[in-house]
Amino acid sequence: MVNSESQQVDIDHMRAALQIAGRGLGNVWPNPAVGCVLVREDLSGNVVGRGWTQPTGRPHAETVAIKNAGKLCRGATAYVTLEPCAHEGETPPCAEQLIDAGISKIFVATIDPDERVSGAGIARLRSSGISVIVGLLETEARQLNEGFFHRVENDRPYVIMKLATTMDSKITAQNGESQWITGEQARRRGHLLRARCDAIITGVGTVIADNPSMTCRLPGLERCSPIRIILDSHLRTPVAAKIVEHSHRFPTWIITRANQPSSRADELISNGCNIIEAEIDNKGLLDIAGICRIIADKGVTRLLVEGGSKLTTSFFKTGLVDELHWFRAPKLLGSGGGEAIGEMNINNLKDALLFDRTTVRSIDKDSGDIEEIFRRRK
Ligand SMILES: NC(=O)c1ccc[n+]([C@@H]2O[C@H](COP(=O)([O-])OP(=O)(O)OC[C@H]3O[C@@H](n4cnc5c(N)ncnc54)[C@H](OP(=O)(O)O)[C@@H]3O)[C@@H](O)[C@H]2O)c1
Repeated sequence: MVNSESQQVDIDHMRAALQIAGRGLGNVWPNPAVGCVLVREDLSGNVVGRGWTQPTGRPHAETVAIKNAGKLCRGATAYVTLEPCAHEGETPPCAEQLIDAGISKIFVATIDPDERVSGAGIARLRSSGISVIVGLLETEARQLNEGFFHRVENDRPYVIMKLATTMDSKITAQNGESQWITGEQARRRGHLLRARCDAIITGVGTVIADNPSMTCRLPGLERCSPIRIILDSHLRTPVAAKIVEHSHRFPTWIITRANQPSSRADELISNGCNIIEAEIDNKGLLDIAGICRIIADKGVTRLLVEGGSKLTTSFFKTGLVDELHWFRAPKLLGSGGGEAIGEMNINNLKDALLFDRTTVRSIDKDSGDIEEIFRRRK
């Protein structure tokens, strides 16, 4: 009984550490979003310190929690969602800081796959006599930082697709009108998704048709806007586009094929954009898998896809969509409206892409919009 009670307390503290870790998603890349909770069992089990990875990745969660607890660190149990680092950076390694602070026991949710850490942090803590328990809520911890794990282990970001459609999966009316299919509240949720991603990608078709900003415009969260990426094989992005106009504040990367006119590239560069060359696939389109590698090498861990039908279809075809947020309005446009997803060349049911629906939520009663969240079935 005592044992299972204490286990539940440990789970609760690790859950709290995961909760605060999530605050870093979207603004700590290329680093993982980590949480740390410090508890003094001898002081009625009180939480004496909490910390999460700060914007741009520094300081680390452990440093913040130790500072927050001050002298109360000594003898505390630490709940950390990712193995503490062991390598020297601009600051001493977190493993060393935890030892110096007098922490007596540490629960670590999961090992850090970064080759500079990968077990070394845990070894360092154990060699100093600290009791280290690894694997508490490991699945949840890996899921929270799936972007970081994908970048380190698979050289690509975690890909999140956002769709906003009618009930019959249309994104435009017959006349091309698309603004707005879903209501204000659904769009606000979309903006929150932007804040929790490192980069957002769209096609030049959407830039020309809709002239979007692709920033997060929720009050107070503008600074959490992601890097904006445009797939644009022939540098058709207008210099007057809003996305270009805001490039000095919110970076814009334009991905194009080799040998584009240097005058166009220079014009976009002088307006603050970054031009990146990528390979072409066997259909003559910019190669999505290669682009994901390029983006991951630049440190992006969580990529949000918000394009028109062509880009959406390309991402589904490459099988790289890990998570799908589908906002659906109770409207019908019928045939003739623009489809959200185009030809996938799937002849047999057995070849359908499979997803698990993890969430269905009503966004607001007035519009009747819903959000469904799916994860790719592995
Ligand atoms: N309701 C919604 O949620 C929503 C969201 C976004 C867009 N839209 C609507 O969608 C329409 C635009 O559709 P769209 O399909 O033209 O836009 P898109 O998918 O955003 O852009 C397509 C363009 O991106 C470029 N591209 C480069 N590499 C690509 C690749 N691997 N795969 C696909 N595209 C690639 C191509 O132009 P190049 O060959 O020149 O490179 C292509 O024509 C607009 O009417 C817009 O209003 C609706």
